[in-house]
Amino acid sequence: MPSKHLHLLFRVVIVVLLAFLSSCGGSAQPTSTSNSTPLPETAATIAKNPSYSSPIAISDDDSLLVVANTLNGTISLINVAGDANAKLTEIQTGDEPRSVVITPNKAFAYVTNQASGTVSVIDLGSQAKVTDISVGGEPYGIALTPDASRAYVANSASGTVSIIDTASNSVVATISIPGVQPRGVAITNNNGGTGQQFVYVTQFLSQPTASGGPGLDQGSEGKVFVISSTDDAQIQGVITLAAHDTGFAADRTAFGGSDKEPTFAYPNQLQSIVLKNGRGYLPNVAASPEGPVKFNVDTQAFLSVFDVAAKSELSGGTINLHAAVKTQTFTPKLFVANPWAVAFKHASNDGYVVSAASDVLVKITLDDNGVPSVVSVPAEGDTTRVSLVEVGKNPRGIVINNADTRAYVYNFISKDVSVVDLSASPEAELARVQSADLPAPGSDAAKFLAGNELFHSSRGEFDEGATERMSNEGWQACASCHPDGLSDGVVWAFASGPRKSIPLNGTFSPQNQTGNQRVLNYSAVFDELEDFELNIRGVSGGKGLIVLQGTADPDPNVKAFDPPNSGREQLHIGGFGAWDAIVAWTQFRVPSPVSAHRGVDPNGEVGQQIVLGRQLFTQANCQACHGGAKWSTPQVDYARVSPFPETITLGTAPEPPAGQLSRFLQLVGTFDPANSIEKNANNAQALGQLGFNPPSLLSISAFPPYFHNGSCLTLECVLENQTHREAGGVTGVLDDPASRAALVQFLISIDATTEPINP
Ligand code: HEC
Ligand code: HEC
Repeated sequence: MPSKHLHLLFRVVIVVLLAFLSSCGGSAQPTSTSNSTPLPETAATIAKNPSYSSPIAISDDDSLLVVANTLNGTISLINVAGDANAKLTEIQTGDEPRSVVITPNKAFAYVTNQASGTVSVIDLGSQAKVTDISVGGEPYGIALTPDASRAYVANSASGTVSIIDTASNSVVATISIPGVQPRGVAITNNNGGTGQQFVYVTQFLSQPTASGGPGLDQGSEGKVFVISSTDDAQIQGVITLAAHDTGFAADRTAFGGSDKEPTFAYPNQLQSIVLKNGRGYLPNVAASPEGPVKFNVDTQAFLSVFDVAAKSELSGGTINLHAAVKTQTFTPKLFVANPWAVAFKHASNDGYVVSAASDVLVKITLDDNGVPSVVSVPAEGDTTRVSLVEVGKNPRGIVINNADTRAYVYNFISKDVSVVDLSASPEAELARVQSADLPAPGSDAAKFLAGNELFHSSRGEFDEGATERMSNEGWQACASCHPDGLSDGVVWAFASGPRKSIPLNGTFSPQNQTGNQRVLNYSAVFDELEDFELNIRGVSGGKGLIVLQGTADPDPNVKAFDPPNSGREQLHIGGFGAWDAIVAWTQFRVPSPVSAHRGVDPNGEVGQQIVLGRQLFTQANCQACHGGAKWSTPQVDYARVSPFPETITLGTAPEPPAGQLSRFLQLVGTFDPANSIEKNANNAQALGQLGFNPPSLLSISAFPPYFHNGSCLTLECVLENQTHREAGGVTGVLDDPASRAALVQFLISIDATTEPINP
């Protein structure tokens, strides 16, 4: 490709020229606002490995780690040469740094800042931020081409990929991704890292297949989009990742099936992607939403595999890591919840999957065809024991050095890096390097972190000596369905009926966080976060957090409304009540996704639509049900005491209909008892006859599908329902499709910065 060579030559000339010019400019210290970026001295250096998005990166000479401290808004540089394992410095980036890459010449790091909508460029020589590049909404994953000439950034809120030219540190192209929440990125290192490369971008939340639908084990599929480095105009292809047999069986007698019906799960929460020997590997939290929803048969631990050349899923490649733990006879068993990242050795076929919720690495190995299998280590005469390496709290990223002797694991909650000795047998953690400061014990920040920890943990081990409090054998965490406190977009067959996981950003008012809380769930069956103690015990199989006084024994008297569950005797973490900490974190720290329309020109076409849409929202009286800063009018406006002061109505179905706070339910024409999906855990009619609890519209466009049963894939569809759109008592306002289109633009614009509309 001569034109490409010319292009490269041209670039090198420019680089040299600019380097010369900037060296003539004196000793100008780069500042955070400056746009004049010092350029890499050896711009032609080629990366040794394919680049992938990760919160931790290692330099090609194995000497330096760059770690994104998401909760602190900083990155840390850590010297790991010769096992120095010493933190060098911490540098402020933007808010919620998520992924980081290092140029092969070790001159710069690029960091995505999810909440700021920027990419920070860090000069690794002077250890200072050079500039912030504005990209799209909620940039998450980032990866570099092998020559580091370009960075590809997945903007999860705006549904785009920004292409950054690293010579000018500016966005040179933006590609639309026709999926939901583009997130993980990986780039090939073909032809010795020169010429055309391919960029792979994951869609975080899977969507229904054409013939499937929400709520079905095989009804949705994962997607990976393919971009060519030589064509910025279009998507080159889409790789679909299908549902697979999980290796687990469910008792589906209540649904007309057998008591050992094989279950399937579809890949979901495609956080990251790693390329190795012509294959792409995607660890993910697979979803098996058909009832009964309980541990063993709900969230699974998949590693999906695709064939790079064929651009399709590798036949027989995808595995369920949980299935390997199932066959283990050695006890105690620890399932490997929320596979979030993976890395492979360079000179061998061994790799390690990061299980974010279970705080371990799972060792895997690839056969000649690239098919993974979980490795066992003989232990106490048992050859079935899955090979696990214990790391820090909530690990979310991993890199392996080029010498294949060390793995470095980023731990999100303990804010440190686990240094794992890969030469040892079995592999073991060698050191822990603190990457960012932990909050002062006893402080509010410490309480939020403790709540964050419990929410993301499948284990639940406590000072009191209690174990398995959050789930059965580490099966799952709250975060398995509520990643970062939000929603996995799955419609689960819960006890009261098919229910989309509700994001927790709208549970408390972001403007009055001390009091203003929603009545909970689509059927108003709960009114306190602590009521989810029943989910820990009933769905996740954990022993729970509410205990009998002076013991670690679960208190059996836990009910939805009476007695109230807040302020109960509970286990402790860092000196805080376990539930108190989860509530505090949910109230004050669950982020609302930034709208794709944040910052649009109010006088532009979209801006004008938003202004009109807001008027239509008000005119149609949507605020009667979706008003206030929660964008959900119903709230707990009564005292939670015993005896319980509110009327609790049972549904029309036989047991187990949970009691409903019927005062808050609204009939909006979304319940069809004849629909075969509307079944409760006993295959009887689901709750819905009395109506539903109006959900929050805060950042709503980030959480398709819509309605309790996922029956609408788009906001346009939501507004086509005439009963619902006229439920505010005003008719005719939205009959015109153009008005509905404007209202949709307003709905997309609603995020934590939008001025609320009060009822
Ligand atoms: C298997 C998936 C799953 C797991 C695990 C899970 N949830 Fe949920 N969550 C859901 C679904 C589905 C809903 C909606 C339920 C409904 O409407 O009946 C929900 C609703 C909620 C709500 C209601 C929010 C609102 O504003 O109405 C809260 C709070 C909540 N979950 C907290 C938790 C906590 C805390 C945990 C861990 C102890 C947890 N969830 C574990 C799927 C899950
Ligand atoms: C009388 C109360 C009421 C009014 C008025 C109302 N809604 Fe709703 N809305 C609901 C209920 C209840 C649901 C949940 C229905 C379900 O899940 O089956 C809902 C669901 C939604 C959803 C889907 C949210 C999700 O997470 O699934 C959107 C979007 C929405 N409404 C927008 C609007 C707009 C825009 C208006 C004004 C045109 C409006 N609503 C008027 C009660 C209302």
